[in-house]
Amino acid sequence: MNVSTELAMPPCDYQPPAYDGPTRERVQALRKQYVHPSLFALYQEPIMLVDGYMQWLFDEKGSRYLDMIAGIVTVSCGHRHPKVSEAIAEQLRHLQHATTIYLHPNLPLLAEKVASKMPEGLDVTYFVNSGSEANELAVNMARAFTGNVDVVALRNAYHGMSSTSMGLTSHHTWKPNIPQGYRIHHTMNPDPYRNAFSGTPEEVATQSAEQLRELLRFSTPGQVAAFIAEPIQGVGGVSHGAASYLTEAYDIIRDHGGLCISDEVQTGFGRTGDHYWGFQHSDVKPDMVVMAKGIGNGVPLAAVTTTREIADAFTSRLHFNTYGGNPVSMAAGLAVMDVIEEEGLQENCRVVGGRLKAGLTALMDRHELIGDVRGMGLMLGVELVTDRGTKEPAKAETAAVLEECREHGMLIGKGGLYGNVLRIKPPMCITEEDADFAIDVLDAALEVARK
Ligand SMILES: Cc1ncc(COP(=O)(O)O)c(C=O)c1O
Repeated sequence: MNVSTELAMPPCDYQPPAYDGPTRERVQALRKQYVHPSLFALYQEPIMLVDGYMQWLFDEKGSRYLDMIAGIVTVSCGHRHPKVSEAIAEQLRHLQHATTIYLHPNLPLLAEKVASKMPEGLDVTYFVNSGSEANELAVNMARAFTGNVDVVALRNAYHGMSSTSMGLTSHHTWKPNIPQGYRIHHTMNPDPYRNAFSGTPEEVATQSAEQLRELLRFSTPGQVAAFIAEPIQGVGGVSHGAASYLTEAYDIIRDHGGLCISDEVQTGFGRTGDHYWGFQHSDVKPDMVVMAKGIGNGVPLAAVTTTREIADAFTSRLHFNTYGGNPVSMAAGLAVMDVIEEEGLQENCRVVGGRLKAGLTALMDRHELIGDVRGMGLMLGVELVTDRGTKEPAKAETAAVLEECREHGMLIGKGGLYGNVLRIKPPMCITEEDADFAIDVLDAALEVARK
């Protein structure tokens, strides 16, 4: 059953067993008493999820939800995808952990598979456990290779919560008043919707790139270690500029001795539809590609892929990661990449994502609240504003839309600097029927939110 019966949910042939664990109230009380208060939960009344299957999630009462945010863009193949689950279980029947001081086939097999999806020359991978760690490692490698220190990231970026990756992140909301990162600079992002520059997206991109040149001139020694960017800013509210921006920015950075890092933590593995990696929309070739989230379908697994030459420059001292390359996470990664191929999930992102985006764009005619619809494939954002002219962020309305969607049995995310962007990034296996349901739910939710 879904919570509200007004809009009929697409069918699901999985029925979870009855839940008999601790009550939601007890879990909430335990969390309040024993768990670090930095953890936050969505919704006025947090949801407790106890089961899931493909694009569906279930709470302790058996209520079903269409998952349109995929555990923050992480569940790529689907919750408990049978092939991925079986690969994990099969590996657990043999060996869970040994570390990389011993050989195991899964690690180099996954490295080979990742390399097969990369442009030529990007074929050496270091596996870690989280996107933050991977970004940290990429910056360290860039500094070791170039001998330079300064790093440039984009305003409105999110790259993680470790020291360096928090420094790369550019949102005051994610920046506690503590030291973070070192010699990191933030340059204008080319998002045409909210930008000090005006003109076509391409003109905004060129002016933003020119500002990068200025930043290098004023704030760095003129030589930099790296530039890092998400091809589409995820936490930042699915914002992205014209494809030409990365081409221009990469050229400028290389002129200043730096390496270009593409943070594909959200955009990788086919999610953007037309391409396997987000950077491919811009026809650029990064020096390093950072990945996490979708590669593991929920298993802690992340990686940096780079060239042999750059990797070799990071071998002057020992480097080690206890869980990185773990046989179980490697087994998951191998199965995930197979499933993406076998089930045509990239193509599904293109087709279903296209339908979803068209539906969202059509909602603009009926809902003044929608200021912008953007994104690619199954990585979509809807920015809500109280006034299309002033673009005043509609924060309260955004929160209300999330609550209302939940009432209809659909979970979405929110993001952006002002928390006013609906983030729609479901498991890559959703169907056209699911997309149509999502549009109907959003239509109803937006109607309620504007009252
Ligand atoms: C683009 C991007 N990079 C890095 C990270 C950090 O990944 P993790 O939370 O696995 O450390 C995130 C997390 O949301 C992300 O969206």
